[in-house]
Amino acid sequence: MNAIEFKNVSRRFEDFYANRNLSFEVKAGTIHGLVGENGAGKSTAMKALFGIHPPTEGEILIRGKTSSIKSPIHAMRLGIGMVHQHFMLASSETVLDNIILGHEPRRGLIFLDRKKALKSLQEIVSSYGLSFHKWEFPIAKLSVGEQQRVEILKLLYQKSEVLILDEPTAVLTPQEVRELFQNLKRLKEEGKTILLISHKLKEVLEFTDSVTVMRRGEGVGTVKTKEATEDLLARMMVGREVSFTYQGERKMIAHPEHLKPLVRVERLTIESQTEPLRDVSFELKPGEIVGIAGVQGNGQTELLKYLSHPDRFPKASGEYMIRGKHMQMAGPLELRRQKVGLIPEDRLEEGLLLRQDMRENFLLGQHHDPRYSEYGMLKRSRVTAELESKISEYDIRPTNPSALLGKMSGGNQQKLVIARALDPSPEILWVAHPTRGVDVGAIEKIHEALVRERNLGRAILLFSSELDELIDLSDRILVFFGGSIKAEFQRRDFDPWKIGKVMGGGSA
Ligand SMILES: Nc1ncnc2c1ncn2[C@@H]1O[C@H](COP(=O)(O)OP(=O)(O)OP(=O)(O)O)[C@@H](O)[C@H]1O
Ligand SMILES: [Mg+2]
Repeated sequence: MNAIEFKNVSRRFEDFYANRNLSFEVKAGTIHGLVGENGAGKSTAMKALFGIHPPTEGEILIRGKTSSIKSPIHAMRLGIGMVHQHFMLASSETVLDNIILGHEPRRGLIFLDRKKALKSLQEIVSSYGLSFHKWEFPIAKLSVGEQQRVEILKLLYQKSEVLILDEPTAVLTPQEVRELFQNLKRLKEEGKTILLISHKLKEVLEFTDSVTVMRRGEGVGTVKTKEATEDLLARMMVGREVSFTYQGERKMIAHPEHLKPLVRVERLTIESQTEPLRDVSFELKPGEIVGIAGVQGNGQTELLKYLSHPDRFPKASGEYMIRGKHMQMAGPLELRRQKVGLIPEDRLEEGLLLRQDMRENFLLGQHHDPRYSEYGMLKRSRVTAELESKISEYDIRPTNPSALLGKMSGGNQQKLVIARALDPSPEILWVAHPTRGVDVGAIEKIHEALVRERNLGRAILLFSSELDELIDLSDRILVFFGGSIKAEFQRRDFDPWKIGKVMGGGSA
């Protein structure tokens, strides 16, 4: 039986079709993948199903019946639940309160029967073979993976039969990804239907039963996963061949050992309850990409925070020098003066203003750049021209500089963050998860841009949770575990298995 069927569904925003004539079927009790480039319309299609953006034309059938879903509450009543690309939990409330919000079993008229709610949640957890116990923790104290489990438990508590997950693994560690998929498989065995949006074609191939491919709002086709390959899906998505590893030229630097380091960090130690750093030392020379590998929570985030905002860490000990100058007291402004650029870990928290348009966002922090202002006056046409060239270089969609950022797809927002960070290209770059949420075609372009910067002699420190990405781009890789650098690998010795072993706490 089909749990869901899209029949010629279109969704128009003013005169733009985010979905057009989209048709596909999802069998009950399966995991169904949804793939496509950034802006292809995946999230929009799922928001149509969940009643956030009902279709403007066409219809959606639920268990064979036409159901014009008008709102998320209506969708939930029909047994459809959604975990969004960016989570929507209230972070100061406890897990339990978040789950029962809007669904409280009531005793009398006033009292919330939390005990009853807790009991039924514990039953859900044990009947699906899941594990969870942090019911009274505030959401803010949970890891991203745990928060996601709470989102899923919330759907199960609401008795959802169809679970929509929009890029659930983009921010998870490899361990958390494995756990998530074990849980999803169990839910599927219990008869639930799961819709999964992902840019990670490997996991789509491993865990789904069938896959629908979208391109520019339309459906390209639906294939059985066992008949699909990474190349086939990528070709269907992008409409051309895509290479999965960096193919371009890597310029060899003549005598790197004679070059002076641009950055020196020596014996950096930071006391912290959550993520301490101990005795971290490294150098960064012009023309190299140094990869930082490690399972999340082993000091990398703390290092990035320190490097980009050292004045916030008065108790840090050790040295942080750029071109021989002490940076311990520096803030972001001083770092920018030292020609340091940043691609931040969380684009929504640190990088972007969603209520502003692309032009305002592109200008953030660059208002005083002499290219863009003269005698205190903004040269608007110059900004627009520069931005338009970036839009075409990175294939950012929509292409209109006045597009509101909040209405752009996640991957396209990320492309703007990269374009901005490389304009003008800084001499030193802290780069965190540059391709998170970005489609295969755009990953290729971002990787090319980073290696191009390296070839121009920039010094790049690359933080990534994708080991493949680090191996592809780095000249050296430093592996973090327990707040220290446990091993360093040179490019000629890269071996994912050996690096993975150190990441897990083993020896090199
Ligand atoms: N509320 C809205 N108003 C106007 N346009 C919108 C709105 N929501 C989405 N769009 C546009 O619809 C298109 C599809 O966006 P959608 O978020 O569905 O893409 P996506 O496939 O999920 O991409 P990504 O992989 O980057 O998340 C984009 O061009 C986007 O700008
Ligand atoms: Mg999306």
